[in-house]
Amino acid sequence: MTPKAQLKQYNKSSVKILEIKNVTKVYKKRIVLDNINFDVYEGEIFGFLGPNGAGKTTLIRIICGMTRPTNGEVFICGNSVQHNFEKAVINLGAMIENCQVYNYMTGYQNLLYYANLYGKIDHEKIDEIVEVVGMTSRIHDKVRTYSYGMRQRIALAQALLHKPKLLVLDEPTNGLDANGVIELRQTLKILASKHKMAILVSSHILAEMQQICDVFAVVDGGKVLDIRSIDGNESKTNKDKHIAISVNYPNYACKVIHSELGIFPEIAGSSIIIPYEQATLKEVIDILREKNVAVYDSKIETKTLEELYLDILKNKK
Ligand SMILES: Nc1ncnc2c1ncn2[C@@H]1O[C@H](COP(=O)(O)OP(=O)(O)OP(=O)(O)O)[C@@H](O)[C@H]1O
Ligand SMILES: [Mg+2]
Repeated sequence: MTPKAQLKQYNKSSVKILEIKNVTKVYKKRIVLDNINFDVYEGEIFGFLGPNGAGKTTLIRIICGMTRPTNGEVFICGNSVQHNFEKAVINLGAMIENCQVYNYMTGYQNLLYYANLYGKIDHEKIDEIVEVVGMTSRIHDKVRTYSYGMRQRIALAQALLHKPKLLVLDEPTNGLDANGVIELRQTLKILASKHKMAILVSSHILAEMQQICDVFAVVDGGKVLDIRSIDGNESKTNKDKHIAISVNYPNYACKVIHSELGIFPEIAGSSIIIPYEQATLKEVIDILREKNVAVYDSKIETKTLEELYLDILKNKK
């Protein structure tokens, strides 16, 4: 299944908010983004996951109109960022590295200042957003007295002031402690589920993506290698499963399976592991018993997200 087809299969809503179409970026003959295509839907938290230098910030800057793509186009609610910037960014809220929060003002004054830039100040709306980001009790304190995580929340509130349909966050968990990550996750879940926002969040930390996102794209060397859903069994294909059989002589069992089925099982402790798509459980057990291998236990296991991630990076062309 192609990444795009997979994404279609997993999306919760059919309302497309962000569309990345054939985006390529070349810096001095070096391809930094190579024909990126994916969509993010209303109510979906989409993770853009990849190692340092993969191209995450570059794509996010292109989405925000801060960098021009060499090829391709980005649409937000159907409006092209490259050709219809003002209309497109009405629906965009973004938090990119080194966000601008003024230390000498209170959190509330910061938000008032930005609300003013958008035109009209609606105090009720500001209060509502302050509550969403969990800053009600400290909002009238000076920003210089805030912790790093609190500053991040103010930056997030700034990005939400104009009620955008799309929120884009570049490595928002950087510098947050475990609690901060949990709180950010809760806030993003509320924004996606209750406020129906589409959220694109980049990270190089798989464990965090696993907890925050519904769907994630693995990017490396500027290429999207795969797009996967994180939870829900419907996302798991046979490719994500393996058969684990505990036996008395794993080395001998491997030889038997190889000679009978032409498959090379892996050994994990006293178990042999076979990709589910390569054989059925019954077939493997029958062969082992026929060759007098004692089978103690057998099960079909689903790969962890970490195994999937490593598989994706390993299988890249
Ligand atoms: N202005 C620029 N000029 C030249 N090369 C650039 C420029 N900006 C980024 N690059 C290159 O593009 C590649 C992708 O960079 P990018 O910052 O998008 O990666 P990233 O995935 O965000 O990495 P990290 O996890 O370290 O933040 C890198 O090789 C980087 O050196
Ligand atoms: Mg980056």
